[in-house]
Parts: sequence; C-alpha cells; structure tokens
Amino acid sequence: MKTLLSEELIKSRVEDLGDQITKDFHTKNLLCICILKGSVLFFADLIRNIGMDLQIGFLKASSYEGQSSTGKVTIHDFDLEVEGKDLLLVEDIIDTGLTLNEIVKYLQAKNPRSISIVTLLNKECKRKIKVPVKYSGYVISDLFVVGYGLDLDEKYRNLPYIGVME
Ligand code: IMP
Ligand code: MG
Repeated sequence: MKTLLSEELIKSRVEDLGDQITKDFHTKNLLCICILKGSVLFFADLIRNIGMDLQIGFLKASSYEGQSSTGKVTIHDFDLEVEGKDLLLVEDIIDTGLTLNEIVKYLQAKNPRSISIVTLLNKECKRKIKVPVKYSGYVISDLFVVGYGLDLDEKYRNLPYIGVME
C-alpha cells in the first residue's frame, strides 16, 4: 500500500472544508447527509469542523462491486426528513457521477430547500454524468484508492490515510 494522502493532509483539508461550509451555511437550515458506508469517516470529521447548529442523516447507496461500477444504484434512507431543509450531501469519492446523480434525483423528489454536494475525493477524469459538486477536497487521477472509509470488497475502510494498492 502506498500512501496517497496522509492523515495530516486529510485533517487540514477537512478543516478548510468545514470553515468554508460554516461561512456559506451559517444562516441556513443545514442537514448533513452521510452517504454510507464510504463517507462515514469523512463525515464524522467534517461535521466536527462545521461551527453551527446542524442536523445529520444517513442514506445508503450501492453501485460498486470490486473495482468497477455496476451502473445500477440502489438507495435506502434511514427516516430522512428533508422537506424545507438545506441538504449537504457528504460523499467520499465521485467517480462516474452515476451514484450521486441518482441520489440527487431521489432527494429532489422529497422537496428539500436546496441540495449541495461535498466530496473528499473527485475523479473528474472519470465523470460520465455531470454532478454539481460545490466543495471538493482533492481532485485525483484514475486510481483505485482505499482507506479513510473507502474499501476494496469491504476491506481497508479503517485505514486512517488514503492509499493506493501497488
Ligand atoms: P460513481 O457512481 O462511479 O461516481 O461511484 C461512486 C462510488 O463508487 C463511491 O461512492 C465509492 O463507493 C465507489 N468508488 C469509486 N471509486 C473508488 C475508489 O477508487 N475506491 C473505492 N471506492 C470507489
Ligand atoms: Mg460512496
């Protein structure tokens, strides 16, 4: 495993994102939505760096098996009440954009006041469908990364850094 982003680097970028989000949302009715499972570590760190009242919610989306997208996305939410709220979707990584596109459509149908997206990692070069990403931690090239929540067949999620398999 080769380190791509160290624990220190991730921490400082997450602090920056939290500051920016606090500035932009301080007058809003913020509901941060953790997209399970991959975003769980990023989510827990990010919300601790947002200095305002907020609510949290959870949604599970699955689209991946092994190292390639299946193209099919299944969505399951956990009693999300989004009507009239300003949603911040917290994603670990955006690759083709297919998953987030489906999530945005799913949530839009529930009448939130607004939907914004923050992703820690952004594989812009792999995008198949445009998604409006408001905050992006790091743009990375076409690498399969693991750690800090990201898995390869459910392994490596607990690594505190982001690595690339050699
Ligand atoms: P998309 O629908 O192609 O944008 O895929 C998004 C989802 O695929 C992410 O939320 C991850 O769960 C998974 N994924 C994409 N790239 C990687 C990677 O490099 N490592 C681990 N999971 C990934
Ligand atoms: Mg994910």
